[in-house]
Amino acid sequence: MTVLSFFLASSIVALGTQAQHVISRDAAPTPMPMPSHGDKCIRFPVFHSTNKQVFGDMWEKRGIETIALANRSDVAYYARLDIGNPPQQNYVQLDTGSFELWVNPDCTNLVTTSDQRFCQAVGSYDPKKSKSSNVTQTTKTLRYGIGEANIQYVTDDIAFQNSGNALKNVRFGFATATKDEFSGILGIGHGSGVNVGYKNFVDELQAQNVTATKAFSLALGSKDEQEGMVMFGGLDTAKFAGNLATLPIVPAAKSPDGVARYWVDMNYMSLTPPSGNMKKYSNTTMAVFLDSGATLTLLPTTLANSIAADFGAQGVDANGFYAVDCALARMPGTVDFAFPGVTIHVPYKEMIREIPTAFGALCYLGISPNEDFVLLGDTMLRSAYAVFDQTNNAIHLAQYTNCGTEDMEIFPDTNFTAIEGKCNAPSFKPAATTATPSTSERPLLPTTMPTGTNRPTAAGPPSGSGSVTSAAATSAVRTTFGLCWLSICVLSTTVFSLAALS
Ligand SMILES: *[C@@H]1O[C@H](CO)[C@@H](O)[C@H](O)[C@H]1NC(C)=O
Ligand SMILES: *[C@@H]1O[C@H](CO)[C@@H](O)[C@H](O)[C@H]1NC(C)=O
Ligand SMILES: *[C@@H]1O[C@H](CO)[C@@H](O)[C@H](O)[C@H]1NC(C)=O
Ligand SMILES: *[C@@H]1O[C@H](CO)[C@@H](O)[C@H](O)[C@H]1NC(C)=O
Ligand SMILES: *[C@@H]1O[C@H](CO)[C@@H](O)[C@H](O)[C@H]1NC(C)=O
Repeated sequence: MTVLSFFLASSIVALGTQAQHVISRDAAPTPMPMPSHGDKCIRFPVFHSTNKQVFGDMWEKRGIETIALANRSDVAYYARLDIGNPPQQNYVQLDTGSFELWVNPDCTNLVTTSDQRFCQAVGSYDPKKSKSSNVTQTTKTLRYGIGEANIQYVTDDIAFQNSGNALKNVRFGFATATKDEFSGILGIGHGSGVNVGYKNFVDELQAQNVTATKAFSLALGSKDEQEGMVMFGGLDTAKFAGNLATLPIVPAAKSPDGVARYWVDMNYMSLTPPSGNMKKYSNTTMAVFLDSGATLTLLPTTLANSIAADFGAQGVDANGFYAVDCALARMPGTVDFAFPGVTIHVPYKEMIREIPTAFGALCYLGISPNEDFVLLGDTMLRSAYAVFDQTNNAIHLAQYTNCGTEDMEIFPDTNFTAIEGKCNAPSFKPAATTATPSTSERPLLPTTMPTGTNRPTAAGPPSGSGSVTSAAATSAVRTTFGLCWLSICVLSTTVFSLAALS
């Protein structure tokens, strides 16, 4: 019912479009070729918003001083699209949790200067400056929690960095007004005939024969790498260890929110602390969806509280975040997500958000409690290599690690079970032996706190650190909150659309 409502919503708003293109599952079988980097796939880098080489450079080109991107509290993931003729360069946030592409956020009404500058640096698109643009009169409002985008649809060509392939006449939105958005979004969830009434970006790639199947692989890359990759129609076997486990996508009708998304069934969650004594959390068999547009991983409150307690956090702060000791980010534990056939180990460093401030880092668990949605956001996805395969209605999942580049194309008859990662399994063992107190109530906390760090706790900043600390902490948290909203917004789009029709 909800699916119908949502589809109806799309049809009503996107007047004049037809949902004629249904996902094709009976494409002619192609002989299995030797792995090669060739015709039917397209690969581009995924840049972390904190990547100074990419975004720092853009500030300079635009005559704006290089801002402290390190001060941006969280990371989002961007792909570059060259839109129109001549090409106009735009960076868009890669989002597996939404379905449409749009550009041109309004940067003028953003609260923080750093958000404004980042917003200006992602680029914009002017259809009047493109020979191949065709502006339609169709508009739509995408609601993102506290933010939103009013878009008008246009069709134009989209080309890619380092690739001869280009898409012709792709339908997407350019914003006429936005609120609390600091970049456009490339929604790569289910499109035509499912969630939207026209061929979205992923649909067009297959329809225009750029890819042989409706599948793409995604590696966000680690915090240290600052860059990952997305490959439409292909995968890179040098980005994971072990075999890809094929997890069926939970059909919309059986999914928790009734919407066709990248929902899969998770077996359980566990923690492997530095001591190595694995702890399994109870009641953790549930459907989860993979959302690259969400900064944080959202879990049911009871579970989130249990994990947070194991990180020494006794509850959420005023902003709904679990403050943790930054020393944990340097310890060799993992948070584990077990699926049939594969367990993704997320190192503490990737699970903990480290927010630099003028006086030292503030650290938060990359998990937030949520009773409405269970989703695996960037804090989990950075440690996974995932093939999002709409053709086979499956997610093929493995442990992310990086040992070079070995691209291969994906065809309708590709046997994913037979594909093995070229990398050795990463080791999460401690580099040096650190004594772990066996009788401590909080075995994960180091015996000695690092000195010279103003470490916030769930109870507030440490006493005696003065008002400077509090002010800086507040400002850091405010920035975080804005970004957090963006993530939650992406998934709220659907909620709002559904609510409006229910
Ligand atoms: C981060 O922001 C603070 C407060 O606005 C500023 O004092 C500091 O210099 C910035 N950090 C960097 C690395 O620029
Ligand atoms: C623009 O779109 C309209 C309506 O679909 C179509 O009639 C027209 O031929 C298109 N123009 C170009 C230049 O593609
Ligand atoms: C894509 O390939 C199929 C099969 O080879 C062919 O029938 C179709 O015309 C091609 N479409 C385009 C847009 O080139
Ligand atoms: C298991 O988790 C669900 C979802 O958070 C919750 O509704 C339920 O009460 C939990 N059951 C137990 C036995 O804890
Ligand atoms: C896929 O590969 C696996 C492992 O090599 C093999 O056991 C299986 O038979 C293959 N499936 C098909 C349909 O070829």
